[in-house]
Amino acid sequence: MGHGPDGGGGQAGTWNVLKRVSSWIDVVTEDELPQGEVHVVDLEGIEVAVFNIAGQYYAIEDVCTHDGSEISTGCLYDHVIECPRHGARFDVRTGEVLEPPAYEPVQTFKVRIENGMIQVGDDR
Ligand code: FES
Repeated sequence: MGHGPDGGGGQAGTWNVLKRVSSWIDVVTEDELPQGEVHVVDLEGIEVAVFNIAGQYYAIEDVCTHDGSEISTGCLYDHVIECPRHGARFDVRTGEVLEPPAYEPVQTFKVRIENGMIQVGDDR
């Protein structure tokens, strides 16, 4: 007989503790967002800028924390985006401020790829 047990390690959870249902929104396909480009999507009323930085995708809220300008229309230098209005700089990977006049980081969002589609998720 030698009939072994099946793999194991399954996670047949009938107890799903749903602290918060996160929603994922389609952005564009990977083909439509080349390296160094940005695409803005509406995530439940929030404008989110999604960047392709050397093949990695990052998402930040498209609102400058200095005075509310759209950050995505600024210049992108590698992983740094410069606000077109007064020149504040943010790291798109972390949302961190790198140059004033902004002092507060921008909100970041999680990104995933599903069958070639870039999606952003609301993690707030
Ligand atoms: S609005 Fe972005 S630096 Fe002032």
